[in-house]
This record gives sequence, structure tokens and C-alpha cells, in this order.
Amino acid sequence: MNILILGANGFIGSNLSEAILTKTSWQIHAIDMAQDKLSSCLEHERFNFFSGDITVDKDWINAHIKKCDVVLPLVAIATPATYVQNPLKVFELDFEANLEIIRQCVKEKKRLIFPSTSEVYGMCPDPIFDEEESNLVMGPVHKERWIYSTSKQLLDRVIYAYGKHHELDYTLFRPFNWYGPKLDNIFNPKPGGSRVLTQFIGNILRGEDIMLVDGGEQKRSFMHIDDGVDALLRIIENKDKTAASRIFNIGNPTENISIRTLAEMLVEYIKSYPTYAEAAAKTKLIDVDAKQYYGSGYQDVSLRVPAIERAEKYLGWTPKIKLEEGLRKTLDYYLQS
Ligand code: UGA
Repeated sequence: MNILILGANGFIGSNLSEAILTKTSWQIHAIDMAQDKLSSCLEHERFNFFSGDITVDKDWINAHIKKCDVVLPLVAIATPATYVQNPLKVFELDFEANLEIIRQCVKEKKRLIFPSTSEVYGMCPDPIFDEEESNLVMGPVHKERWIYSTSKQLLDRVIYAYGKHHELDYTLFRPFNWYGPKLDNIFNPKPGGSRVLTQFIGNILRGEDIMLVDGGEQKRSFMHIDDGVDALLRIIENKDKTAASRIFNIGNPTENISIRTLAEMLVEYIKSYPTYAEAAAKTKLIDVDAKQYYGSGYQDVSLRVPAIERAEKYLGWTPKIKLEEGLRKTLDYYLQS
């Protein structure tokens, strides 16, 4: 099988590429602007890498969509601070650039595996989010945070429609707060410059206080990337075609904790790394107003738990890595490498 991965150097792309090369015999064709997370893949005979930009190198993309069996467009901006600070950039990359790729897959009749997001459920009041039953609840237009969610939601609807009316072979997957090695750069000091886990690790290492937005009582279900990659390998394999024309939440409903608890766990665990123990012991948790931290265009999600019965039933998948184990593995990656 020939697999095209757009954005192979990203968090999901880099972890997935490594797993494909070690666990399967599939061939990868990959594009990204950077390659720092791909050192274990670049020399591999089944990894064909092109250094390029999906918004510029369209001839390469189109030729490779033609050539491959499965297309995974993983290029997107996925940091909430950017949704508020640069919403048009999010729209142009996450929506417009990806729409072209989706249309090319329709034209070439190629299988599309597309990343939707837990963010599409927005502020849905359901205690557990179901792919086929839950309503997708966004705030008003001036709450610009929702441009990412609505861009992704419209692409979900476009892909669904192409599937229903034009025979596009697709699977949509919705990651719920995946974390692990190669997430974001912990040395990015900008508040909100990375997702919460890497943000907090960076804060602790730099001796900064941790900022708990609106007190940190909001919860997320965190899942280790290895469980996410396991689900993706099953989707790509598509045994008995059970992944076709479906949307899957891919998350860990049992590891649902508050952001405050996440901060406390990280401080505690980092105390066991001699180089950083002192910094961790000094870290203070400070409550900060969301408007002050992100700006007035931000609005938060208080509870986000995935229903995963469909993924369990149709993919034979279940998340296995406990949060404590996953966080310790992630810290080993960031603090020992
Ligand atoms: C994320 C991002 O939108 C995407 O990465 C992705 O599509 C999706 O959710 C997902 O991974 O499922 P969110 O969970 O809100 O959204 O993003 P984080 O930046 O990781 O923030 C999590 C929570 O921590 C938010 O409530 C945020 O306000 C809080 N936070 C973040 C803090 O309290 N302090 C910080 O310094 C940073």
C-alpha cells in the first residue's frame, strides 16, 4: 500500500510515520516544510520525503494523490491561541488548503483519511460526545476561537456529502487531546504558544508560574499518541472495510481530568528529574482570567469526553495507556533527550 502523508513532520504525522515503518510493509510518500521530528524515518527505504509546502507545491501533491492508495492530509494549525490571534490564517490553511486536497481525492477516486477534531462538539452539554447523536455547539461569531472548530466541521460535512453523493471513500477521525513525544516545542515561551501539556512542561522548566485559565476546573480527556497511532493503523488497514464512510472519536474517556489536576501531576512528576526538581518545587499555580490570557475572542469547553463504542466495535480498538504512564513516558522524552 502507498500512503500519502501531508504534514508528516507534525505531531500525528511523525509518530504515525515511525509506526508505519516499524510495524507494516507500507510505503510512505511524505511532504512537510520541516523535518526535525523525522530523523528516524528520513533514511528509511520505504520513506520518500519531499521538503515542501502544501499551499505551494500543488503539482507534487496532485501527482502523489494519483500515485497513492490512501491520503492523510494532516496539515493544520491546532493551537487555540492562534485561532484567536490569526483566525484567517487558520481558515486559509485548515479549511481552504485542505478543501483542494479533498477535491483532488474525489477526482482521483482515492481513499481519504481526514482529521476532524474533538473541537467540533464545541460547548455541547452532553456528558459524553457521540459521533452521530451529539449536537455541535459553537459560540457567537465574535468568539473567534470557533473558526477552527467550524472550519473542521464544514470539512466534515463536505467529506460526508462527497461520500454520499460522489462515492468518496473516506474515514473521519476525531482526536481528543492526544499528547506524547513530539507534541509541541516546550521551548516556545509564548503564552498559549503550544497545547496545554507542553505549555506547562515549558513553564516548569523555565521556572515560570503555571497559568490556570479561569481556575483550571475545565476538564479534558487526555490520550497518549501511541493509542492514537494504533487506531490510525487500524483505520488505514481497513480490515473488512469496517472503517469506510464512518466518523470515529479517538480518545480515552477514562482519563478525564481537570487542567488543574494535570498541572499538579506534572509538577509532582518533574520533581523526580534531578535537573528540574528545584524548578518544579518552586512552581506556583496561578489563576488567570481567560480574556487576559487569550483575549476576548476566546471561549472554553468545560467537559469533553468521547464516546468510543464505534471505534471499539468497528476497529477492534481500545485505548490502553493510563495517564500516569503516558505522562511519565512523555516527560522522559522531553527531559531526557
Ligand atoms: C485543543 C486544540 O484545539 C487542538 O489541539 C485539538 O483539535 C483539540 O483540542 C484536541 O486535541 O482534542 P484545547 O483542549 O482547548 O483544544 O487546547 P489546549 O491548548 O491543550 O488547552 C486545554 C485547556 O487548558 C484549555 O481549557 C485552556 O484554557 C487551558 N490552558 C492552556 C491553561 O489553563 N493554561 C495554559 O497555559 C494553557
